[in-house]
Amino acid sequence: MSILVTGGTGYIGSHTALKLLERGERVVLLDNFSNSGPDVLTRMEEIAGCALRFYRGDILCADTLSEIFRTEDVEGVVHFAGLKAVGESVQKPLEYYRNNVAGTLNLLEVIGRFGVKNFVFSSSATVYGSRSVAPYREDMPAGGCTNPYGQTKYIIELMLQDLYASDDSYNITALRYFNPIGAHPSGKIGESPSGVPNNLMPYITQVAAGKLPELRVFGADYDTPDGTCIRDYIHVEDLAEGHVLALRNQRGFNIYNLGTGTGTSVLGLVSAFEEATDVKIPYRIADRRPGDVQTSFAAVTKAREELGFLARFDVRRMCEDSWRWERYANGHA
Ligand code: WQD
Repeated sequence: MSILVTGGTGYIGSHTALKLLERGERVVLLDNFSNSGPDVLTRMEEIAGCALRFYRGDILCADTLSEIFRTEDVEGVVHFAGLKAVGESVQKPLEYYRNNVAGTLNLLEVIGRFGVKNFVFSSSATVYGSRSVAPYREDMPAGGCTNPYGQTKYIIELMLQDLYASDDSYNITALRYFNPIGAHPSGKIGESPSGVPNNLMPYITQVAAGKLPELRVFGADYDTPDGTCIRDYIHVEDLAEGHVLALRNQRGFNIYNLGTGTGTSVLGLVSAFEEATDVKIPYRIADRRPGDVQTSFAAVTKAREELGFLARFDVRRMCEDSWRWERYANGHA
């Protein structure tokens, strides 16, 4: 029996697929390479030390999905495939609704036809919007996201909840990620944003590598100890482990936060990076970025008690691994 990982060569999908293999699962990967490439698959195989079952295709294509379910003995699906750039989603909302919402709908319909009942979805802490105050608990109100990307994640959660309400033989888990950073300890896979990064850590590593001149810190007048926004950064390896635990502990419909429960400010992350790598990050304070919430971090009790999930890696380690990956990627560009 295998686990199908959609978006299996993407940032979180690739780490999760390798973690599932490490934990003794068989995996089948699906990816359209829209934000990765064959080289990622090659490096994943180097790390795994074996060939991986891979399909190049799109979740929007029912024929491709049917072929996979006909050929492979799939017992569960971990679904990452989707578009994820917040700014782009504002410019191209329909692409986001098509790829993320219609793509997931298509996947769920095919899964239903083949009688597969176990589904883990890659959701986001962005669904908490700005209504609630951190620490965010899974039972707090969600929705009202400030961008189409976030809305797609929330709509998919609703779709999954309704699916389960209609048929409780499903096991469905939505995992709300906080801010994933870090990279595989081998340094061979990590996040590869296209163009100038929007997210903080890839921006920092590109400044460190000399590809960008300086970091702009978006707002230093927030009501936080150093005036900059607070986020819950979590190592992608911890996140990957969270998926293994989620798959092993599926029962009914559940939502879990995957975070560390600890907040770090923008300037705190800059200092941690400098200390971990001995590389100075020039920065200047800029205006606030529209749509940013002041403070976001996870309540971790539910994931700990029900999944046994506990993040292991600290921010220093996240910085070391992100930097190792940046240097590897530049050496192999
Ligand atoms: C973190 C902090 C910025 C860049 C986003 C999405 C979310 C999820 C993860 C997933 C904020 C500040 C950033 C920079 C800065 N998406 N910052 N200078 O906004 O918490 O979450 O990514 O796929 O849905 O919204 O993460 O890394 O963009 O920002 O000062 O150049 O760093 O203002 O306070 P965010 P981020």
